[in-house]
Amino acid sequence: MYTPAITGTGVFTPSETVTNAELVTAFNAYADLYNAKHADEIAAGTVEAKDHSSEEFIVKASGIEQRYVMVKDGILDPTVMYPKMRQRSDDEPSIMAEMALKAANIALENAGKTAADVGAVICAASNLERAYPAVAIEIQDLLGIQGFAFDMNVACSSATFGIQAAADMIRSGSIRSALVINPEICSAHIEWRDRDCHFIFGDVATATLLEREEDAAGPYFAVKSTRCATSFSNNIRNNNGFLRRSRPDGMKDRRDMQFMQNGRKVFKEVVPMVSQHIMDHMADEHLGADDIKRLWLHQANKSMNDFIGKKVLGRTPEPHEQPNILQDYANTSSAGSIITFAKHSADLKDGDHGLICSFGAGYSVGSVLVEKHG
Ligand code: COA
Repeated sequence: MYTPAITGTGVFTPSETVTNAELVTAFNAYADLYNAKHADEIAAGTVEAKDHSSEEFIVKASGIEQRYVMVKDGILDPTVMYPKMRQRSDDEPSIMAEMALKAANIALENAGKTAADVGAVICAASNLERAYPAVAIEIQDLLGIQGFAFDMNVACSSATFGIQAAADMIRSGSIRSALVINPEICSAHIEWRDRDCHFIFGDVATATLLEREEDAAGPYFAVKSTRCATSFSNNIRNNNGFLRRSRPDGMKDRRDMQFMQNGRKVFKEVVPMVSQHIMDHMADEHLGADDIKRLWLHQANKSMNDFIGKKVLGRTPEPHEQPNILQDYANTSSAGSIITFAKHSADLKDGDHGLICSFGAGYSVGSVLVEKHG
């Protein structure tokens, strides 16, 4: 058996941002247009008027201040309210492969490695651009990697489940190394016309290089162990899929074809599930709260992370013990905990332990316990 290690990470951040102020202005203009258009039905009580959104609510309820997006055009137009992307030909790289490539190259450089050192590619994300061929195989081709590649989707937990798959293959010897890549274009799956969730998501791509410990060219994080768990829930759901055309009204502009959630229930049910999951994982490894130097948590909601950190450590965590990046990136689905790890792990000392944990739709929760070396 070999010890798998995280030897490099990469974050590709899109150049466009949408601030809360821009978001709220666009939403309120959309709501005014909608209410004017449906004035008679609203007066008759058959259609509900849309309330305005507010910056104060967004920051207070979520901790999010802005988000990055791949394509800003359309999002802030009250007559559009989705990103308007250009059609790419089948002979040019797809948008997910393009952003994945940028994150992957940063991770390789960070690890002091090249594509020749990689044996497999896993593209793990909440949404995949097409049914087939796998985006991962396109990324593999663009990077010039031998071996194999596949896509997987476990929603917000895709990255940690992908890391578990790669780590287990490295441990068993079936591969020497793998890139786990998370290109997330959440701006295309949220409903910008729904004030309950229009502020939640942003776009990004992250990449994690895993290798045998002995192949590391610099400081690395040994993967001590991983834990994945799932439990079915309809509280976060998106009904879009290949059967859409076949169903009555499937092609209509339907609310359930974008991200939907019962946010309050998610909050209430996921916080205890994740806290227990992390504590069980630590107990299995005979680690107490004082043995964990840092938690790199999924980035959905600041209060959620505050609750989880407090439960796991048994006290209010210091900011450096449980860093957040969601104020800048919003919820980037599976990529959130990896951005946090990539940006807030270099200062850990030899022998320090930390834990990456993502959670979300499914429900799903995945944790990766790491130990710094070098
Ligand atoms: N602007 C102003 N008011 C808003 C608003 C907005 N954009 N969106 C909702 N509100 C209103 C609601 O209508 C509600 O009004 P009411 O009390 O009159 O009914 C009030 O603000 C509170 O809304 P609620 O949805 O209960 O807020 P919340 O405190 O639960 O926060 C979330 C909402 C989504 C931020 C929070 O529930 C959450 O983070 N849940 C978990 C999300 C998560 O992790 N999802 C995983 C996705 S992968």
